[in-house]
Amino acid sequence: GIAVLAIDGPSASGKGSVAQRVADALGFAYLDSGALYRLSALAAKQAGVVWSDELGVACIAAALDVRFEVGLTLLNGRDVSAQIRSEEIGVGASQIAAFAVVRQALLARQRDFALAPGLVADGRDMGSVVFPQAELKIYLTASAKVRAERRYAQLIGRGDAADLAAITHDLQERDARDAARAEAPLRQWPDALLLETSDLSLDQVVEQVISWWKT
Ligand code: CDP
Repeated sequence: GIAVLAIDGPSASGKGSVAQRVADALGFAYLDSGALYRLSALAAKQAGVVWSDELGVACIAAALDVRFEVGLTLLNGRDVSAQIRSEEIGVGASQIAAFAVVRQALLARQRDFALAPGLVADGRDMGSVVFPQAELKIYLTASAKVRAERRYAQLIGRGDAADLAAITHDLQERDARDAARAEAPLRQWPDALLLETSDLSLDQVVEQVISWWKT
């Protein structure tokens, strides 16, 4: 089979940066599963489908015309890399991610990313639902305070307006919703190694993941 390294964890825990770097270091493909939920939320919005419309959003998710290029995400051929990173779309992604039909609509598309020699996949249910056979499963987290600060820095760095109190509130709501939902709830499953990153630099986290992978 194809080697899979699954990295799950809450919002703004740094999964994306870590997973991308580990994938580059190992020469593996990278799946940002959260981007698929964000793209589905954006595509629904563009099509005038409200996020509470389960079946409407599931149809949009199933038919998503998306391409990932180096540093670029294209929806219907248009670059939406910046747009899908907004807080608004993040909130929409978390709302539609609670629907089983939406998750089902994105399942095969996620599994298609597993190509030789291997894949690093980041999300909420990579180790539990999408790639239960993964060789290594990591639950990456950080304190709520550190995660809110990381997200704030990310938004400011992109030139977006950001409000630390509002971000902290959004993160807590999103974590609660991701953990409480019936479908693929966010949690540290017993077969995942815990990596608490509050006091670690990005380089240190990447090193730890690679050293686990090699042992
Ligand atoms: O960047 P952030 O960690 O906040 O979010 P993301 O990884 O881009 O994912 C956006 C939303 O999609 C999350 O709030 C989750 O609700 C949902 N999601 C999910 O349910 N399952 C995944 N495998 C990935 C994301």
